[in-house]
Amino acid sequence: MHSATRLRDHVDRLAVEHPPLRLDAVDFTVRDAAALDHRFGHVLDYMARVELEVDRNVLELTTMLPDPPEVDRYFYADVWQPQELQHGLILDRLQEHIGRAPAVTDTDTVSAKLRVLGVLAHADSFQDVCRMLYYLTGMATERSAVLAYNLLHKGLLEIGEAAIAHTVVGPIKRQEPGHFVFYQLSARGLWAELAPWQRWLVRRLRTLSFGPVGVNDRSQHADFGEVMDALGIPTDDDFAAQVVRTETELLWAHRRGMAVPGYVRTAFREATELARERAAA
Ligand SMILES: [Fe+2]
Ligand SMILES: [Fe+2]
Repeated sequence: MHSATRLRDHVDRLAVEHPPLRLDAVDFTVRDAAALDHRFGHVLDYMARVELEVDRNVLELTTMLPDPPEVDRYFYADVWQPQELQHGLILDRLQEHIGRAPAVTDTDTVSAKLRVLGVLAHADSFQDVCRMLYYLTGMATERSAVLAYNLLHKGLLEIGEAAIAHTVVGPIKRQEPGHFVFYQLSARGLWAELAPWQRWLVRRLRTLSFGPVGVNDRSQHADFGEVMDALGIPTDDDFAAQVVRTETELLWAHRRGMAVPGYVRTAFREATELARERAAA
């Protein structure tokens, strides 16, 4: 099947099979609010923030890609944004439920860097570079979400919070792989079409701009390290490698045997170090 048709079919299927989750379908029964807060409170907060910041991500997208392909718009407007927003609202409601403050979000700041890319993207050949960066970020973000929600689901069951595991995290985590597949199909398709100079530029810009999901400053970088720690994510390269597997395959195919790009390894190690520094201080 032609890859554009496959992509559209995929989004059609997500739209039909995964309507946005409903708050009233959630069972917020918590066995031990204090224990839940102690163990996973900041994880819930981090995830709620990242999910709710989908509104800013859409602003970033429309800035960076002034003229995206129709299927991209279809995906982010009709499937992705409504789903992620509900994920955020549900997680935030859970925070409230266990006596935590709602997540502090930034839903409208588009960085100067992205605005510059957006101006350059009025040239189609450059917009394709931006699109590739968007798909790479999308893949890493969604893959991180899948892995993190799996670990959170397991952790909640271990501490006996079955209702939350089954009606909050379970349904959310089932919606993330479809997002990942959208970006993966898009990334593979576009990468195959890029000229060598565009590929070179994608590698350069990605190396300069990579950050773990939800990290926009140093403090959030440390938060991310704490989330990794709470979820029991080992500090070896394994997790980082899983997050960027397709990216490594596409961008760094010429460096055979590279398990994880250096910029990804550094970003994950820094998260752990910053979290340790914070704990020590
Ligand atoms: Fe989500
Ligand atoms: Fe997602």
